[in-house]
Amino acid sequence: MAPAGVLHCTLLWLTVAAVASLLTKEQRDSIVDQHNIYRASVNPKAADMARMTWNENATLVAEKYASQCIWDHNPAVKNIFGESLFTSTGPINVSKVLHEWFKEHEHYDYDNNQCSEDEQCGHYTQMVWAKSTSVGCAAHVCATFQGLPGFTNTTIVVCNYFPLGNVVGHKPYQAGEPCSQCPENWTLCEDNVCGPEHKDVLPSTETEHGDILPSTETERGDILPSTETEHGDILPSTETEHGDILPSTETEQENNTRAMPEHAVIASKAGTGTLILARLLLAGLIASLVF
Ligand SMILES: *[C@@H]1O[C@H](CO)[C@@H](O)[C@H](O)[C@H]1NC(C)=O
Ligand SMILES: *[C@@H]1O[C@H](CO)[C@@H](O)[C@H](O)[C@H]1NC(C)=O
Ligand SMILES: *[C@@H]1O[C@H](CO)[C@@H](O)[C@H](O)[C@H]1NC(C)=O
Ligand SMILES: *[C@@H]1O[C@H](CO)[C@@H](O)[C@H](O)[C@H]1NC(C)=O
Ligand SMILES: *[C@@H]1O[C@H](CO)[C@@H](O)[C@H](O)[C@H]1NC(C)=O
Repeated sequence: MAPAGVLHCTLLWLTVAAVASLLTKEQRDSIVDQHNIYRASVNPKAADMARMTWNENATLVAEKYASQCIWDHNPAVKNIFGESLFTSTGPINVSKVLHEWFKEHEHYDYDNNQCSEDEQCGHYTQMVWAKSTSVGCAAHVCATFQGLPGFTNTTIVVCNYFPLGNVVGHKPYQAGEPCSQCPENWTLCEDNVCGPEHKDVLPSTETEHGDILPSTETERGDILPSTETEHGDILPSTETEHGDILPSTETEQENNTRAMPEHAVIASKAGTGTLILARLLLAGLIASLVF
């Protein structure tokens, strides 16, 4: 009865995870809707923007990684998923996180495909990456953080995108009349984004939208091999990379040590790679370690 035993453990783990890191159905729907609204509102307009759906696989990966409370990219997914990270002391409104990521468009120049110097825009470019058709996110409250000394009772948000974006040498989308260059079999234009004509061209996870089906539980282990040992190599300069705190929260941060207000300290991280990627982003390049 070994298989039954395995299943039992998996279910138990799932329950714990559900308490710890899963977002509600409402939050998931809102993440998908918000992505599609943002994807439809890029400037210049996008000709080939695909509609985004919820990705259950990516969610399981994000959830497991979030619960590890590490301020660094998940090395196990760097060639599989795009990844954006966000953390803040106190509770997090995921909707605001997405807004902050989208706001990076102010620092992005479409024509030369670059960020302004010393600014991040990789969260934005991943968010509006035309070929990324699904996203899965998780949030977790961490008592302490590896890689962010002094952060206690901090919430981390992890979003994994599939297929991954921020591919070196590519723009996030093709500029042009909305839906004028939709991918094959994705020509159903709705609200200025390309949608699949038939349900059967959707990724298999589409039917699992919003809830975890038993069949996904066994997939959990495959996706994320033990990564704990790979995170020791956090580079000394990580703190400086978190200096690019979002403008709206900078003032709150000054009072952090005394008042400890919500959202007192915010750090944000985009891309699919490691800290090398973060450096590239800071250097004003849209790049990643994607091959
Ligand atoms: C989260 O932020 C959004 C946008 O700022 C706002 O409309 C919403 O009410 C907030 N939700 C909560 C629970 O505060
Ligand atoms: C973190 O939260 C727990 C539970 O609310 C609380 O007991 C603890 O004092 C908090 N720690 C810090 C450093 O704020
Ligand atoms: C588009 O749909 C047709 C008919 O279902 C199928 O044969 C073809 O492989 C699809 N193309 C792509 C790129 O999925
Ligand atoms: C979900 O993960 C499983 C196991 O890794 C994989 O076989 C399946 O293709 C994935 N589905 C999607 C839509 O990525
Ligand atoms: C810090 O807190 C003090 C008193 O609570 C307030 O007067 C001041 O404006 C705050 N400073 C910032 C930058 O928020």
